[in-house]
Amino acid sequence: MKLFIDTGSIKDIAAFAALGILDGVTTNPTLMAKERGDPRQILKEICRIVQGPVSAEVVATDADGMVAEGRELAAIDQHIVVKVPFGKEGIKACRALRADEIRVNVTLVFSATQALLAAKAGASYVSPFIGRLDDIATDGMHLVEEILDIYGNYEFPTEVLVASVRHPIHVVQAARLGADVCTCPPAVLEAIFKHPLTDIGLERFLKDWEKARSAAGTRQ
Ligand code: G3P
Repeated sequence: MKLFIDTGSIKDIAAFAALGILDGVTTNPTLMAKERGDPRQILKEICRIVQGPVSAEVVATDADGMVAEGRELAAIDQHIVVKVPFGKEGIKACRALRADEIRVNVTLVFSATQALLAAKAGASYVSPFIGRLDDIATDGMHLVEEILDIYGNYEFPTEVLVASVRHPIHVVQAARLGADVCTCPPAVLEAIFKHPLTDIGLERFLKDWEKARSAAGTRQ
């Protein structure tokens, strides 16, 4: 499973990319609005750092506007994947951008039928929003399972990108289901690194090592 980071923060992207665990980045207008500076420059820098797919979302609401904006975004860097919201306009824009060989991520997907249409429109990625479904007492991961089944039945090349991830259990579930990509906010990636037993275990190893060394020192 590919691991993406869900943020527009260059600092966070650089920190996790340095660990060699990042395959790509997803952003959205909410995340980009939190960053200071020219969004195009930020996206360019993100592409330089990660050297993998970087989703950049359009804010136009009509297909022609999405296509024009998508072309501009794609011109920033070869790693840009244009994110369009699901809907009639988004699906139309997806088809047109794919005809230009621009990669497209269809976002705001909350049902298997929406995912089916995104795949039929040639989407490179589809982004089911797991956490937001969980928030309304619906099993978000069940949607991922349904999409993977449907795409498998018809061998759609569209990659299933698990989005709106809230905690490490979502990452485990996505990986067990065989999702293509899981995009995690920095806080979720941080949480994966933390385990009290790992911390306690390391502390004990180091203490035991020091104890043995000082005992050997006093014997000499
Ligand atoms: O990037 C899209 C998605 O991951 C947003 O997540 O936490 O705002 O539901 P969230």
